[in-house]
Amino acid sequence: MSAPIQKTAATARRAGPLRGRLRAPGDKSISHRALIIGALTVGRTTVSRLLEGEDVINTARAMRALGARVERKGDGTWHVDGVGVGGFASPADPLDFGNSGTGCRLVMGAVGGCPITAIFDGDSSLRRRPMQRILEPLLRIGARVAAAGEGDRLPVTLAGARDPIPIVYQMPVPSAQVKSAVLLAGLAAPGQTTVVEAEATRDHTERMLAHFGAKLTIEPEGAHGRRITLTGQPELVPAPIAVPADPSSASFPLVAALLVPGSNLILTDVLMNPLRTGLFATLADMGASVDMLDRRTECGEELADLRVRSSTLRGVDVPAARAPSMIDEYPILAVAAACAEGTTIMRGLKELRIKESDRLSATAAMLRTNGVAVEIDGDDLLVHGRGQAPGGGLVVTHMDHRIAMAALTLGLASDKPIAVDDASFIATSFPGFVETVRGLGGDIA
Ligand code: S3P
Repeated sequence: MSAPIQKTAATARRAGPLRGRLRAPGDKSISHRALIIGALTVGRTTVSRLLEGEDVINTARAMRALGARVERKGDGTWHVDGVGVGGFASPADPLDFGNSGTGCRLVMGAVGGCPITAIFDGDSSLRRRPMQRILEPLLRIGARVAAAGEGDRLPVTLAGARDPIPIVYQMPVPSAQVKSAVLLAGLAAPGQTTVVEAEATRDHTERMLAHFGAKLTIEPEGAHGRRITLTGQPELVPAPIAVPADPSSASFPLVAALLVPGSNLILTDVLMNPLRTGLFATLADMGASVDMLDRRTECGEELADLRVRSSTLRGVDVPAARAPSMIDEYPILAVAAACAEGTTIMRGLKELRIKESDRLSATAAMLRTNGVAVEIDGDDLLVHGRGQAPGGGLVVTHMDHRIAMAALTLGLASDKPIAVDDASFIATSFPGFVETVRGLGGDIA
């Protein structure tokens, strides 16, 4: 298991407006996939602007341990020399994914279709998270769990399928990680692997596989879902990947700029995949001034620059159907809601309970200790905004980068400073967050 990272406290306080231009770090979901799918191609994939956060670095190490050559060539530029579909070798040591559910679960999928055995492990946060949702479809494909922690948790020893079976998988939960694991395992199976999702989740795996030459068909399923069919055993052909800026990471300075009076910020190259933009739609409903400039498509993904100006926000009702397109954004939306006028209701947040922390409870606690009225009603979160948050609290982050960044963002706009017990996990997704916000005029120390 990963050694615990040294805890570092941080405090944010109100200062002048946030101004300037910022490219948030590379998208975490796309960065993991670029390394994993790159490792399954035959030949060299060049990835530029890769997120060099701890989560993705652990995935790079795992790809090396499985036999791919992965080299950092310069700032954000990486070469991946793949071993081809089904070409992974058994790693000598356990694969350590640190804090990253995405890295761990996607690699489980990729290993699940190969005739090799690997041990998957991570830090104490990842050891608490459910793996059964991944292992269950992998067993149907022909993989075997040789050993696992209590309740199918990490550490897990997974023996991949010798003769992977193409399956039709009806997703029991909306999860891009589960969908991606099935598709990555299905790459090695002969014939067609189908995933049916009742609610569409982020589709970066599908887009990247198509970018590398795999044959996929995607059809609508019901009101909000999709049926994805992959033809197995393709020869994946390398193609360059330029990683757009992560909208989930960009959302912290974006909301800070909305809340701190006089701010005017441009966020460049932000990924605008429609399955990731639920927060932007919600903020628009709340009255946020966010203009989309220069919309374009690169490497199969949509992006844009965003101009953000400080705005007066009002409470809104966020439907459960929007959750998959903003699943990582509820902590920062709750911060915006705390500073809006009126109540914001966020519905259908069950999946938040099993993120890097129990994010539903952690988000509510973050606001409560800072004088904001909140309620949890079943799977819904209600935030009673009063235009301004009192602040003054110490937030417990529970090894969760997004709770840490959301709390510090609130501190930039609240009456009294806000402290977090541990900002170290921010490095999993947004290295240099504190320095970046300071460079824009924010006060975090
Ligand atoms: C991710 C999927 C989501 C999200 C996570 C990244 C991905 O998790 O919360 O941060 O890259 O596939 P779930 O699949 O558990 O919803």
